[in-house]
Amino acid sequence: ASLKKEAGKKDILIGSGAINPDYLDDPQFVAVLAKQFKSLSPENELKWTFINPAQGNYTWEATDRLVDFAKTHGMVVKGHGLISSCCNPQYLLDISDPAELRAAMTAHFEAVMHRYSGKMDRWDVVTEALETQGGGLQANGFYKVLGAGYIEDAFRIARAAAPNAKLFLNENLVELMPGKRQELYDLVSGLVANGAPIDGVALQMHITEVAPIPGVITDMVKAYGALGLEVTIAEMDVHTLNATFQAEIYGAVIDEALRAGITDISFWGFTDKHAYTWLPGAKPLLFDEAYRAKAAFISTFTALRNF
Ligand code: G3I
Repeated sequence: ASLKKEAGKKDILIGSGAINPDYLDDPQFVAVLAKQFKSLSPENELKWTFINPAQGNYTWEATDRLVDFAKTHGMVVKGHGLISSCCNPQYLLDISDPAELRAAMTAHFEAVMHRYSGKMDRWDVVTEALETQGGGLQANGFYKVLGAGYIEDAFRIARAAAPNAKLFLNENLVELMPGKRQELYDLVSGLVANGAPIDGVALQMHITEVAPIPGVITDMVKAYGALGLEVTIAEMDVHTLNATFQAEIYGAVIDEALRAGITDISFWGFTDKHAYTWLPGAKPLLFDEAYRAKAAFISTFTALRNF
């Protein structure tokens, strides 16, 4: 069974994020990635400190490798990490002048987005603008110098650099936390009211032992749809060792997402062999360490087939 084939019949873009180019040396990894997924996104390679470690000194090789792989296998690459809460180099954090910081953002976005123009048509412009547990914007390096307006600046700079790309705000935990969900809505509707060029909201969907309440995803799709925005699932994984419960969550979330009208769904990797996890021993993905399909794969595939 292939998720890609099943999703393709229904015009759903199904993908795996967290692809580290080093994994492409593993033939089993490559075989499953190419068979199961239509899109991929890099794990860290596009984040600022990885691709622009010394100001203006870009390291393209890792991302180029992913782009070449995607081209060979007829896949789409999603640009993850233009501005993220992690991974900002010291020279960037040292900039204290607002005009200088905007100029650095412009130079960085232009370099990266121009290089991958025509190769990546959707970007996470800002990832994790809000505090992890909610309660306001993260006071990251951009916020400290530019205030809350850094987010709007980032979208305007991104739109100028890539006029035809879809631009997303990527956020975590909102599906599980009502307060943070409202904060994100307030933030995004404020951006839209100001005319900021945002196209959508990317829900990370990193889930632990608690499933999103049924209806929450549907409500978000409706609310953002009313603002003219798309909602995607960008980084789903389910960190529980209870394989049955895990499969139920995957099935329920994917089923609701599809019925709500979400057409772009990515997981944060696909094999427990290379799972990014902050929980020791968690096995959060669709395939086990030996690339065997888990119950979570079956429930995900079934949700796609029944849609
Ligand atoms: O590359 C350096 C290496 O040179 C150094 O020796 C080593 C020592 O710590 O660190 C290496 O960098 C690590 C990097 O992964 C590459 O392995 C960073 O410390 C580590 O923080 C980083 O973790 C990444 C994390 O984002 C950063 O916040 C994870 O791989 C990545 O899976 C994770 O992905 C995020 C998404 O971007 C956004 N949403 C949440 C998601 C999971 O946290």
